[in-house]
Amino acid sequence: MSQAEGGRPDAPDSASRAYTDFTRSLSYGEYLKIDTLLSAHQPLTQAHDEHLFISVHHVSEVWLGLIVQELKAAVALLASGVTDTPLKMLSRVVRAQEQMTNAWEVLKTMTPADYLQFRDSFGQASGFQSAQYRMMEFLLGNRNPALLRPFEHRPDLHGPLHAALHAPSIYDLTLRLLPGHGLPLPPEVLERDLSQPYTRHPAVLAAWLSVYRDPQRYWDLYELAEKLIDVEDNFRRWRFNHLTTVERTIGFKSGSGGTSGAGYLRRALETVLFPELWEVRTNL
Ligand code: HEM
Repeated sequence: MSQAEGGRPDAPDSASRAYTDFTRSLSYGEYLKIDTLLSAHQPLTQAHDEHLFISVHHVSEVWLGLIVQELKAAVALLASGVTDTPLKMLSRVVRAQEQMTNAWEVLKTMTPADYLQFRDSFGQASGFQSAQYRMMEFLLGNRNPALLRPFEHRPDLHGPLHAALHAPSIYDLTLRLLPGHGLPLPPEVLERDLSQPYTRHPAVLAAWLSVYRDPQRYWDLYELAEKLIDVEDNFRRWRFNHLTTVERTIGFKSGSGGTSGAGYLRRALETVLFPELWEVRTNL
């Protein structure tokens, strides 16, 4: 900054110094492919609120993309026994989840009447068919082979989801670290059928009890466990806000994806990803 500008960051002529010739260098819009990004915004009706509806779905998918990327990186590191770097990735996941949850505040400004103006246009489309959401759930350990079915017509989506369903989740990998810390676990935990939902096991609870009773001794496991709790806590918040938004928008009508709607989403709220990490608190 020059003295002529008096050290003020908002000096009147500062914008005139900005680069303006992009015939030979990459501009903001070209780097970020903004035209491509915005071209995905294609309302099917003239309804004012369809713009909002599409925008909130799009930003949620962008955050999901980041969450999936961070979870995959954390999973790869945990698989090789690294426990510190994944904490940074999970912290970022937690922040991105908060952004997704905040998005409901914007969507909540849409009333049921606003929604009905464009509801019929998108037929059977539903977030139930979100590949990135399912990838996030599979990485976190919410396993259910039936959830792959909506992707059978898209091998490019089905393949990676199928692989993730059969690979260890972030919790499976965390549990595999315990024996190396002198906390043995039985084969039915360490060699379980990964495509099925994880079920709680008393030996896992006992191991986490040891960790939570002596955090200094098992600091890396303790920190990782608390970060997983942060992730599940935020996941629940997103789910709860989704359910509430759904109830205030469509009441108890069935969902566009074919489920019972609010009833289905309420049951999903009962899912527990890391059961022993919640249970351990009761036993301390
Ligand atoms: C007013 C707006 C919305 C309504 C009325 C709505 C409604 C529903 C309903 C009823 C379901 C159950 C499945 C079905 O369709 O039968 C569902 C699932 C889902 N929705 Fe939404 N939704 C809305 C907004 C959003 C937004 C903004 C996202 C962001 C990506 C989203 C993501 C999802 C996901 C991921 C599922 C699957 C949940 C699971 O299987 O546990 N929804 N939605």
